[in-house]
Amino acid sequence: MTEPDLLTATRAAYDAVAPRYAEDIPERYHSNPLNHAMIPVFVELIKTRGGLVADVGCGPGHVTAHLHSLGVTAFGVDLSPEMIGLARSLHPELRFEVGVMDALKVEDAALAGVLANYSIIHTPPERLSETFAEFHRVLAPGGHLLLGFPAYDDATKLAESFDHVVSLAYRYSPGRIAELLLSAGLTEVARLVVSPDEDPKRGFPQAYLLARRAIVAHVD
Ligand SMILES: C[S@@+](CC[C@H](N)C(=O)[O-])C[C@H]1O[C@@H](n2cnc3c(N)ncnc32)[C@H](O)[C@@H]1O
Repeated sequence: MTEPDLLTATRAAYDAVAPRYAEDIPERYHSNPLNHAMIPVFVELIKTRGGLVADVGCGPGHVTAHLHSLGVTAFGVDLSPEMIGLARSLHPELRFEVGVMDALKVEDAALAGVLANYSIIHTPPERLSETFAEFHRVLAPGGHLLLGFPAYDDATKLAESFDHVVSLAYRYSPGRIAELLLSAGLTEVARLVVSPDEDPKRGFPQAYLLARRAIVAHVD
């Protein structure tokens, strides 16, 4: 499948499931503290410098709204117009836009933070570097990235595809993701890996990886 085909298929798949997703997933996100354990840390780091956060692949906007409730100015971007329509109606006080995460309509270095919660899972491994380069482009020096994704427990392999209920998806080795981030100029700050025993459905570990764009030191 070519990249445009893949995006078209992912968009169509999420358009089709959007109402059901919006009924189930926000409730699941909020009901298990492990699903949002890194959010308060991310929020505190954003607040030390201030600025805007993009929730990329925001779905129906529940994580964008969570960031907002904790005092962060955030907006959401998603490939699926249906998801964006739902996000706007569920959270009319917030900004949501249709867009793709590897070509964000954002100026260079404009953001204090980028959050991608389970939204890189449909990005083929060979396209990740491009996506991380885009996150680096939009982040201000010192800005933070928080990624959430199902993990692959073997550092010899970057990714493994799995039969996601909506569309072809990948789980990734956190260590290999950290290496790719570093190559894109984003240094790992912390990670949380939730035990596979906590995932009764697939038995995957879940990874939450926090990274920072370096602050360039001036040498006189
Ligand atoms: C598993 S859902 C996660 C939604 C939300 N972040 C959450 O935590 O529930 C993946 C979302 O990413 C979006 N998505 C997938 N590929 C994308 C891309 N290249 N650019 C923007 N959004 C994308 C999908 O439309 C979908 O809404």
